[in-house]
Amino acid sequence: MPSSKRSIALTTGGGDCPGLNAAVTAAYYHATANHGLEVIGLQSGLSSLFTDPAATISIKALLHRNLFQEGGTILGANNKGNPLRDESQKKTLLDIAKRSWKRLGLSGMLVVGGDGTQFMARSLCDIGLPIVGIPKTIDNDLVGSETTIGFATAVSHAADAALRLRSTADAHNRVMVLEVMGRHAGHIAIATAIAARADACLIPESPFELTKLIKHIKKMTNGADRGYLVVAAEAAHPIGGDMCYRTTPTGKKRLGGIGEFIAEEIERATGIEARACAPGHILRGGAPTAADQILASTLAVQGIDYLAKGESGFILMRQGNKTVKRSYSELKDQRQELPLDHELVYTAKGLGITFAS
Ligand code: F6P
Repeated sequence: MPSSKRSIALTTGGGDCPGLNAAVTAAYYHATANHGLEVIGLQSGLSSLFTDPAATISIKALLHRNLFQEGGTILGANNKGNPLRDESQKKTLLDIAKRSWKRLGLSGMLVVGGDGTQFMARSLCDIGLPIVGIPKTIDNDLVGSETTIGFATAVSHAADAALRLRSTADAHNRVMVLEVMGRHAGHIAIATAIAARADACLIPESPFELTKLIKHIKKMTNGADRGYLVVAAEAAHPIGGDMCYRTTPTGKKRLGGIGEFIAEEIERATGIEARACAPGHILRGGAPTAADQILASTLAVQGIDYLAKGESGFILMRQGNKTVKRSYSELKDQRQELPLDHELVYTAKGLGITFAS
């Protein structure tokens, strides 16, 4: 006999990040125990709705005591982009989504995702599907949100890596370049540079001048018994130059390689041994920090409250240490860069960290 309970779905989209399972378990518990809702897991992100029947997962079957602190996501994720960007198939896909939604008997959905996933969710809201979003991405580049699930953990790992590089740099009087993820924004890079008291921070929002960097390195290391630490965002690039990409065996372009590029240029220009290190996905794997656990739980619980009340059509974002609603209709297809008047830029300058720009 079909259940008489209202059903909602949970999904995690885009690249994974620490804190997704914290959000899923918090949402599941609150929805089932405190609101008497039925909860379905939508597998591998929102685009699963574009097949009918949609692939689902039984969250209950996968729950275990410590799941909330595990990395990855039990619901699966996919980073393959937004198929609704293709106008020629948009209407067909949205029709399928409506059918899948109906077949699942949903009264709402909590979408945990970054800009790509939330922009897709916006299109589903536009056709009347009741959705509440919560922001996640290590890059912290979702417009309107001061922080996103996964960012704090990524910074904590990056800062740990940077501090380790600093001690080995100092031991050998070398230059160490740490390349960090962050896509086209410098949020992770600047927070890491400050946490590790780097000497230089290169961010895409403020393209660098190699000659300025070299000059700073010479000034700081001249006659001094010390190394030099550079934190570079993966999309950092010289003034008038391009970002570094690597081409995959299947012909796709992936951001990466700026660390190696800078290290080689530094060694050539200064004669000081320079090495690059790129922790890559290490920043986004594994358990969330306490800050991300708390953020994920806070947003998930409130998201479920809204869905239980029948309210939807917005993303819950952190602003001024509070959770606020931001309508999906305001969401634009753009990313939040690091503003150059951000207090972290000021802090970095106060610490003597150069942007070489
Ligand atoms: O958006 C998160 C992120 O980890 C970026 O920092 C990075 O550029 C990208 O995803 C990597 O994507 P993928 O895991 O698909 O290689």
